[in-house]
Amino acid sequence: MTQWDMNNDIERVLYSEAEIAAAAKRVGEELAADYEGRTPMILSVLKGAVLWTVDVMRHMQYSDVEFIDVSSYHGGIASSGEVELNIDLQTDIEGRDIIIMEDIVDTGRSLKFMIELLESRGAASVKVASLLDKKEGRVVEANVDYVGFDVPKAFVVGYGLDYKQLYRNLPYVGVLKREVYDTAHADLVDTADITSEH
Ligand code: PRP
Repeated sequence: MTQWDMNNDIERVLYSEAEIAAAAKRVGEELAADYEGRTPMILSVLKGAVLWTVDVMRHMQYSDVEFIDVSSYHGGIASSGEVELNIDLQTDIEGRDIIIMEDIVDTGRSLKFMIELLESRGAASVKVASLLDKKEGRVVEANVDYVGFDVPKAFVVGYGLDYKQLYRNLPYVGVLKREVYDTAHADLVDTADITSEH
């Protein structure tokens, strides 16, 4: 029996491991310079932003990192429109400078939700550093201050981004083959709730 290889489900690589490492270095160094003399809190959005967060952090001066989990996709490929707070951060953020670390900003709903939450709790400032910015996908206003890559409208996975909890561990970002989510992929993914491409 041949072993399943996640790389075979990728149509094409958009951003290689080396390109992502360079983007993490660029963004991390920009953040280190912009926050010189301040002690920002890095707020990593579970689960997708974990890889990006640790790689960017390596180039920063501070290491105060917290986690939050919001979701709007519910495992499918289309955004449901509703944002849920699944895991709240555990620290008082009053007066703090917050840097939200995202893997992707698409409709902007998750980001808007988090910014409003943080501001309502008295954050001194909130900035956003996202690996990917899918500007074409926006339905609400949401600005990304530090962008790894402006990504085109395609279904992308890898380096934190999943499809049904698969592909997060790919070292690169790639476009998922349409047949993977158009048809059932063996018993690994359930495509029943897919409605539209995002
Ligand atoms: C993804 C991503 C963002 C959000 C962006 O998270 O990490 O938080 O969707 O989409 P939006 O701009 O349309 O709101 P997801 O809910 O897929 O959770 P995950 O990171 O745990 O996979």
